Amino acid sequence: MSKDYMDVQASYGRCSRQKGFITRFYELLMEKDERIPRMFEGTDWSQQNRALRRGISIALTFAGGSNIVERSMDEMADVHSRKGRAPVDPVLYKHWRESLLQAVKEFDPRITPELEKHWAEALKKTTDHFTEHY
Ligand code: HEM
Repeated sequence: MSKDYMDVQASYGRCSRQKGFITRFYELLMEKDERIPRMFEGTDWSQQNRALRRGISIALTFAGGSNIVERSMDEMADVHSRKGRAPVDPVLYKHWRESLLQAVKEFDPRITPELEKHWAEALKKTTDHFTEHY
């Protein structure tokens, strides 16, 4: 069954309106694997936080089956591919999904087990797409 993940989009809205959501996500991600903080050594964080906010929004729209964001998704996947500016070994994507899900659980006051399941599905679609592009 195809889903539009509007409930996930709404949850993302509730999270991202709160200060500290993206920062908390990165804090969790950094602890998962020692390779990760090293990748972000030269990063401009205000720019990166903005890029990721937009990136998640694109990813959720993509997961919902809309192809208007296909090009943006491919561009993000290219950045993280073997030959990209910031290559990401696909084994690391489970950390990305877990960290984001954890941050959502901490920040969305209306999280439910069903919503968590939808989030997990939507994020898996995104990282599977990145993995195919690797
Ligand atoms: C473990 C997983 C991931 C790691 C370690 C990672 C790491 C990075 C790094 C090192 C950069 C470059 C930062 C810089 O310019 O200094 C970056 C950029 C970016 N990442 Fe990721 N990333 C991961 C997963 C993802 C996923 C799944 C998305 C999807 C939403 C994403 C979206 C972006 C975006 C939008 C940018 C900015 C691209 C640009 O500047 O053109 N990342 N990432």
